[in-house]
Parts: sequence; structure tokens; C-alpha cells
Amino acid sequence: MTRKLFVTTALPYANAAFHIGHMMEYIQADIWVRFQRMQAEGDGLREVHFVGADDTHGTPIMIAAEKEGITPQEFVAKIAAGRPQYLDGFHIAFDNWYSTDSPENVELSQGIYRKLRDAGLIQTKTVDRFFDPVKGMFLADRNIKGECPKCHAKDQYGDNCEVCGAAYQPTELINPFSVFTNATPILKPSEQYFFKLSDPRCFEFLRDWLNTPGRLQPEMVNKVSEWLGEAGEKLADWDISRDAPYFGIPIPDAPNKYFYVWLDAPVGYLASLKNYCGKKGIDYDTLLADPGTEQIHFIGKDIVSFHLLFWPAMLQFAKHPTIDRMKVAVHGHLTVNNEKMSKSRGTGISPLRYLNLGMNPEWLRYYLAYKLNSRVEDLDFTGDDFVARVNSDLIGKFVNIASRCAGFIAKKFDGKLASALSASSQEWIKKALVAENGSERQASIAANFESREFGKALREIMEIADVANRFVDENKPWVLAKDDAKLAELHDVCTAALILFRQLSILLSPVLPGVAANVRSFLNDAAFTWADTAVASGAAWQPMLGRTIGAYSHLMTRVEPKMIEELFDAPAPAAAAPAAAAKPEKAAKSKAPAAPAVTETGIEVIAPEISVDDFFKVDLRIAKIVNCEHVEGSDKLLRLTLDAGEGRHRNVFSGIKAMYQPEELVGKLTVLVANLAPRKMKFGVSEGMVMAASAVDEKANPGIYILNPWPGATPGMRIS
Ligand code: 2FM
Ligand code: ZN
Repeated sequence: MTRKLFVTTALPYANAAFHIGHMMEYIQADIWVRFQRMQAEGDGLREVHFVGADDTHGTPIMIAAEKEGITPQEFVAKIAAGRPQYLDGFHIAFDNWYSTDSPENVELSQGIYRKLRDAGLIQTKTVDRFFDPVKGMFLADRNIKGECPKCHAKDQYGDNCEVCGAAYQPTELINPFSVFTNATPILKPSEQYFFKLSDPRCFEFLRDWLNTPGRLQPEMVNKVSEWLGEAGEKLADWDISRDAPYFGIPIPDAPNKYFYVWLDAPVGYLASLKNYCGKKGIDYDTLLADPGTEQIHFIGKDIVSFHLLFWPAMLQFAKHPTIDRMKVAVHGHLTVNNEKMSKSRGTGISPLRYLNLGMNPEWLRYYLAYKLNSRVEDLDFTGDDFVARVNSDLIGKFVNIASRCAGFIAKKFDGKLASALSASSQEWIKKALVAENGSERQASIAANFESREFGKALREIMEIADVANRFVDENKPWVLAKDDAKLAELHDVCTAALILFRQLSILLSPVLPGVAANVRSFLNDAAFTWADTAVASGAAWQPMLGRTIGAYSHLMTRVEPKMIEELFDAPAPAAAAPAAAAKPEKAAKSKAPAAPAVTETGIEVIAPEISVDDFFKVDLRIAKIVNCEHVEGSDKLLRLTLDAGEGRHRNVFSGIKAMYQPEELVGKLTVLVANLAPRKMKFGVSEGMVMAASAVDEKANPGIYILNPWPGATPGMRIS
């Protein structure tokens, strides 16, 4: 049967720019999709439809739009306009990017709902819902926080726990509070619509669906089985309605009621596919009904309950054709320097900052792929490890092969490769491409890409590169080139080395699509497909013999450790609200997207209004600078030792080296943001931030000025 793949990633909330965690998921899916697109299928290559969309509905977006004085649709459009720079920047090739606020999604969500209702799986109940007595509105799950009823993690949202992944009702939260006013919400009766997950049909279906071999990772089957209970007794009905005012899709025949955002969000996968099919002239229903069509969702482990309980049950009872051919690929979280990332704020690395620093997106793709496997494990980005991995593998092993051989083909042989290979070179090629047990390495590399064991695939590819480098080292083309009697040998060695380089480029092309495109044009290849890697058929090298190739230009540069310093030495733009001592955008010489808006009088535009409660969340203290020193290896930072009256000292890094000598600061008082989460930086942990002022236009006024209180203030005093 011909495989056709419908692939998605989790739809991001349209209330913030992408953070590095989003990029990790998209890169993972994009690598898998690109690998699939290289496979032969029927008369051509495999058909893959890779779609995404913004997840637009719900109260947070409604409130954010209200604060900006625009409609939710305008708000969402602004966010959507920012997506391409990230997606294009990291070579993430969605076929379609759409929105859950779309006619297709309304039609599909309402259609699914009607089918569930016809199946007797919708029920209304009058329930007590949380209501903010100060703001005078029902509170959405994400507007309520409290302690997780399952694992007791603090500060968790009302719908699911980011720590243990459990889903629950907001009324189950311990010590709940409204995120708008901090008021304790009161319960008010309201008629709500429920999806009857407790119906025995749901349990029976889910048990079998989850346990279908090959559908899910074993750890996910175990986890979700626990949520089902022995006989479904743990499955609770799911409240799928929200009261007006709500930015969402109206529930048919239910005035003033809207679908809860998590009901229509996954339907957005289908809406984006349908929209894409419309543009491409593909029949959506025929595609889904095709027994060869598989539906694959890449998601993070924090949203498993929505994708492995509610979503499959909805699809099953709405008679969605691919439910038996649906898989969910769950990944762990990305940590940065072992710090956990906040879902909305991300963490230390801003993807745009990465790009604006001129860092190569394919370095990140390679590094993440190298660390990815098929299990639900967290993955850590560490600066030193990143530099070492990229420089060693991509530069030292891969690019090195071409840069040591390509020049001789151009200079000595008019760009033409040898038309036959010596037995010895053929032997080396075989040694590189065929494993000791006689099987072709491309087959196990393919199996690893298919099963999302990307790290294993790349390690095996690097083993090929190691053999190729040994071949070049032993045959020393730079020595052969000095001896006219050895020209034929030089031709043979450089041709064989470039054949191996081409093989490596093909095998790496799901991960390094930009490099692969450049190699294709350098080697005059129309396309790279997986069939080009087959050794036995000769596809691996026959096409190269006697071919004239183009001029080689350097394919990739090394990562400079200094770039990592710049990447880390300031918080990500989204987190950098106050005039921080180390301003991110300015330090990064960033381009347009990160530049702050300026008023007519030339100052940075005043930030959106906050409540006094918001202000008091920031704990500002007087601190004495008891010591200050240079930071070896950093041309921006000073290391401050601060006494904020706590009976201990704090270590804080600050990007003020250009302005102050350490000795002139020692003994002075300044202002510390005392409750900022500690941040691991390249040079150590920074336990807070000293406040400093700077002008919006760094070129005209490059100064950065730390604050100093009037006489009388003493360490530990709170500033308000
Ligand atoms: O957790 C999130 O970011 C959600 N916006 C994911 C939705 S995935 C799908 F269901 F749309
Ligand atoms: Zn929990």
C-alpha cells in the first residue's frame, strides 16, 4: 500500500512569539518529514502533507487583545505575521500554516460536536464554575492558578499541570486564585456541555487504541493506561463549554456558549489540512479515507492527556477515517543549561537572537537532532557541548572532506571527476558505507530516521565520515598533488572522497537541508533521494564517475564560542521587560524585529499598563556592592557580589563593563531585582539583576547607567 503522511506539530498559542522549545519540536518534525519526502513510493516520491496553524481561541488572547485595544482577530494576525521569520530562518518547511479561527475549523469542530451529540456522548450539567468577583467574569482554566491536585506542584494552571502532565478541572486545584486580581474565585452555577468520556464505549475504545502495537511509545501507553484505570473508572467527563464572553467557536444550539479552546485546537490540524487541500486541488475526504494515509502528531509531553484521551475519543466517535492510522509522537522538554523552560516565556535562548547573531540555523538543527531519540526524555542545550559537537562533527568531519579534496578537482582536472575508480578506492567506499555485518549502513540509518532515533542515525553517519577522513589522511591528496607522476592517483582519491562526501550530504539532508541544497548545486545533482544511497545497486557512486562538477565554496563555518556568550549573556527579549543591566537586543546588534518602538520624543515606547499588583510581583531591594571584578573571557560582563541584607551574598552578572571599573563600584549601593529566578550563564549562576538605564538608540547614546539611591537607604530595604 502506498503510504501518505499527514503530519502536524502542536499548534502554538497565538499570544506570543515562538521560543526555543517550539523550534525544537518543529525541527524534530521537519527532519522526519524531509526524510519521508526522500523515500520512493509508487512512481515517485512519498506524499507528505506537513501542516501547522496558530491556536487562537481562549481567554488569554481575548484579554491580551482587549489590553491592546484591538480585536482578537487583529491580535492573532499580528502574531501570525511574525511566524515566517522563525520558520524560514530554521528551514522548517510546513506546507501550510493556518489558524484555528477559520471557517474550516468552525465547520469541522461543529460537525464533530454534532456527531458526538448524535452518538449520545454529549451531556449538559449545571455545574459550579469559578467566577472572579472583582473582575466580574467567569474564569477560564488558564486564568486560575493553584496547586496541582495530583503532584502538588505550586503555581499550576487550572486545566493541566506542566510538571506531572495531569489534566483536571479547575475546581480541583488546591488554593486557587485569579491571575487577574489574585482574588480567591467564587463558585457560580452555570449550565455546561460535557463530552462523556466516562461512557464505557470510550474506555473500551481507548484501551484498544492505546495498546495497538507501534502506535505509541511504551512509556506513554503505561502513563495513559494509569489514567484510564482498570475499567475506565478514572475517566471523568470533560467540560467542553465556556460562557460568553469568550473568543471561540459557538456551540450549535447553545446560545452564549462556546467550545473550550482545547476542543477546537486539535480540530485545527484538520482545518489546516483541509485549507491546504483546497489550495492544492486535493480532495480532503478522499485523502483521509485512503487506507494508505497515516496521521502523525508531534507533541510535547505536557499535552499528552489532550492528545491521547480526548482527541482520539472525539475522532473515533465522530467516525474520523484515519483514527486507526493515527500515531502520536511525544517528545520531552528542552532545557537550556539544565534550566527548565517556562511554557509561555521560554528560557535563555531566543530563536531570533540566535539568527540575528548570525548563527547558522543548521548548527542548531544538527545539535538537537544529535540529542533526540524516540523516547520521552528531556533534552538539554548546553553552550560548550553545542560548540564542541558542531565543530567536531560538521566542520571537523563532514565539511573537512570536501574542503580537502574539491580544490584539486577544479585546479588539476578542469572540474571533472575520474571516470573509473581503482579497486582500492572502491574498497574504501565499501568500508565506509557497508557495516561489518555486511548490511548497508543507509538501511539502518533509514530505520533510525523512521523511528525518530535521530541521534543514532547521526552517530552512524559520522562513522561513515570517520572512514572517509581516514581514507583522505592515508592517501594524502596534498602530497600526491606535488608529484606529476601521481596525477591519476590524485584524481582517483579526490573522486572517491567526493563520492563519500556526496553520500554523507544525502544522508544528512533531512537535518541539513540548506547545506544539502548547496552540495547538490556544487555536484550538479538535480535532486537527492534515499535511493541514491544504495550501495549494492551502484547508485551510491556510479552517477558521479566522469561528471563535471561546479566550483566548491565553503559550506559552513565553525561556531565561535564568543557567539554562545552573546547568546546567553542577556535574558531573551520576551523576558526583558525592565531596563536591564544587560540589554538583549542592543548587545546582540539585532535587526529590525527586536528593535523597540520609539516615541516622537525619542524615548522607548512606554510598556503596556500593569496593575499595582503586577508591579509588586517584582521585589526590588537596596543592595550593597561588596565586591566587583572582571569576568575572564567576557568583554561585557562584570561580576558583582551583593549584600541585600539577607545574611548571605549574591552573585550577579551585569553587562556594564564598558561603563565602570570594578573598583569604583565596590562599597556603593544599588538596586537589585531580588526575586528574579536564578539564571545559569556561561560564567556561572546569576542570582538576580541590578537595574540600569540606557537609551533606546544605542548608537547615539551607548551608555548604560546603574542606579544608586539617595543617602539613608540601607541594604535590604524594599523599593516601592
Ligand atoms: O499547549 C499548547 O501550546 C497548545 N496551544 C497546543 C495545542 S495542540 C493542538 F491541539 F492544537
Ligand atoms: Zn502535577
